[in-house]
Amino acid sequence: MAMVICVSNQKGGVAKSVTCVNLGIGLARHGKKVLIIDTDAQASLTISLGWQQPDTLPVTITTIMRKIIEDEPVSAQEGILSHAEGVDVMPACIDLSGIEISLANVIIRETILRQYVDIVREHYDYVLLDTSPSLGMISINALASADKVLIPVQAQYLPVKGLELLMQSIAKIRRQINPKLSILGILMTMVDSRTNYAKEISTLLKNAYADKLHIFENDIQFSVRAAEISTEGKSIFAHDPKGKVAQAYEALTQEVLADE
Ligand SMILES: Nc1ncnc2c1ncn2[C@@H]1O[C@H](COP(=O)(O)OP(=O)(O)O)[C@@H](O)[C@H]1O
Ligand SMILES: [Mg+2]
Repeated sequence: MAMVICVSNQKGGVAKSVTCVNLGIGLARHGKKVLIIDTDAQASLTISLGWQQPDTLPVTITTIMRKIIEDEPVSAQEGILSHAEGVDVMPACIDLSGIEISLANVIIRETILRQYVDIVREHYDYVLLDTSPSLGMISINALASADKVLIPVQAQYLPVKGLELLMQSIAKIRRQINPKLSILGILMTMVDSRTNYAKEISTLLKNAYADKLHIFENDIQFSVRAAEISTEGKSIFAHDPKGKVAQAYEALTQEVLADE
C-alpha cells in the first residue's frame, strides 16, 4: 500500500510542483513505483512533465472526480500517463476549477478524491499529490486523501504567518476528516545561500518549529537550472544531474525513504 504524500502550501510559487516532480522521479530512481496526481487546475505539473496541452487529454483528474461524484465505476489504470523517467501521472486541466463549484452540492464532498486515491494506492509505493495555491475544496480533498503532508516554504519571505494558517487547516482536517494525517516535514526551497537573509529565515524557522515539526535536513538551493526544467519536460536529475539542486532533491528523496 502506497504512502500518500500531499505537497501543500496555500502560497503559490514556493516550488510545490517542482518538488512533486523531483521527489516523485527521485523515488522512482530508487526503484519505487510512484504515481503523481496533479490537483491544480493550472496543471503546471502536468505541463512541466511534457504534456503541454492538458486540455486535449481524454482523461484528467476532473474526469475521474466527476465519475466518483456521479457514482460511476473508476479503474486504477484509467487515464494514467507514463513519463519517460519512470513515474506515472494523473494529469489535471483547467476544467478542474469547475469541480470546485460542483462539489458544493455533493454529500461528503471532502472525500471525493480520497475514493480515487484508495482505488490506486494499492498499485504504488508512493502517491504524491500536487496541490493548488489555495485552501479551497480541492486542496481539502487532497489533504483528506493523504497520510503525510510535505510543506515547501520559500526562504525569501517570512513564512510564519502563512504557515500558521496551513497548520490550523491541517489540524482541523485531522480532527474532522482524516485523523491519520501527519506532517512529514517542512522543506526550505529556493534558498539563496549567498545571502545572510535566507540563512536568517532558515534559522528563524528552525527555531520556531524544530521542537514541533520535522524540518528537512537539506534545503533546496535557488538555481536557474531548476527553473528551466518546467519547460523541458524532465526532472532536474535528467536536466542537470551534477548540480546542487539535483543533489538536494536526492537528499530529500533519501530522507523521505528513511521515513518508511
Ligand atoms: N530551486 C529553484 N531554483 C530556482 N527556481 C525554482 C526552484 N524551484 C522552483 N523554481 C521556479 O519557481 C517557480 C515556482 O515553482 P512551482 O513549483 O511552480 O511553485 P508552486 O507549485 O508552489 O506554485 C517556477 O517558475 C519554478 O521553475
Ligand atoms: Mg504548482
